[in-house]
Amino acid sequence: MDFLKFFKNKHFAQDMPLGRINRDKIPQHVAIIMDGNGRWAQKRGLPRYAGHKAGVEALKDIVKACIELNIKILSVFAFSTENWKRPKEEVSILMELLTKHLATEKDDLHKNGVKINCIGSLDKLPPSAQTEIAKAHALTKKNHKLILNIALNYGGRLEIVEAAKKLAAKICEGNLKNDEVTEEIFASLLFTGGQADPDLLIRPSGEMRLSNFYLWQTAYTEIYVSSVLWPDFRKDNLIEAIIDYQNRDRRFGGIKK
Ligand code: IPE
Ligand code: IPE
Ligand code: MG
Repeated sequence: MDFLKFFKNKHFAQDMPLGRINRDKIPQHVAIIMDGNGRWAQKRGLPRYAGHKAGVEALKDIVKACIELNIKILSVFAFSTENWKRPKEEVSILMELLTKHLATEKDDLHKNGVKINCIGSLDKLPPSAQTEIAKAHALTKKNHKLILNIALNYGGRLEIVEAAKKLAAKICEGNLKNDEVTEEIFASLLFTGGQADPDLLIRPSGEMRLSNFYLWQTAYTEIYVSSVLWPDFRKDNLIEAIIDYQNRDRRFGGIKK
């Protein structure tokens, strides 16, 4: 073996983001606010929809990377309850993109063991989108390599109110007593019921806010804000975020170990 070449390669590997990742400390659940599509398009003198289209490519790359890294849950914020305020044409394009890509990508995602789980007030989405969501859910429901939560017409406050309504119904029906309500029971009634909370939340494009995403679930999530616009976000950016996360001291209100 060429010793010098071996040494050089080894050195090179350590410079690459993947070489610096700790495989024993991979976050189980990563959440991403897919933001910055509009700015990405504007920078290129393109219409906003071009940014949304490019954002889909970023998502495909990140799903692949999550599978490779053995991340168990990926949550992506795709459309908020507040995004209906946007011009009608932009909302239509977003719904069309979603419907089209669910239809074309579901088989590949299924082959790769991805469970597609759309969350939010789905019954307010266009019927064609609802049909594709139902097909994707049915096809992939038994998969467990990666759960892909796609938040659509999702709002953290809406989710909490919906959970409160379900809880009230249980109490009214006599299935639960007021005094028996715990954080665990409440969490089980959220759209993410049964799933671990996100370990890491990534927000591309620099904004330092939650914009109504996962208000309950992010109580102890590590937040990473990247200046990279979502359509440019790739595996290496995800790895950088994970390395940053791996160097955090998660105390959960306790003291340093
Ligand atoms: C995220 O990108 C996509 C959605 C919110 C649907 P934006 O469209 O918000 O992009 P910016 O923030 O205007 O750059
Ligand atoms: C958050 O981004 C919603 C999604 C990425 C789906 P926004 O672009 O809607 O958030 P604000 O308006 O900058 O807070
Ligand atoms: Mg935005």
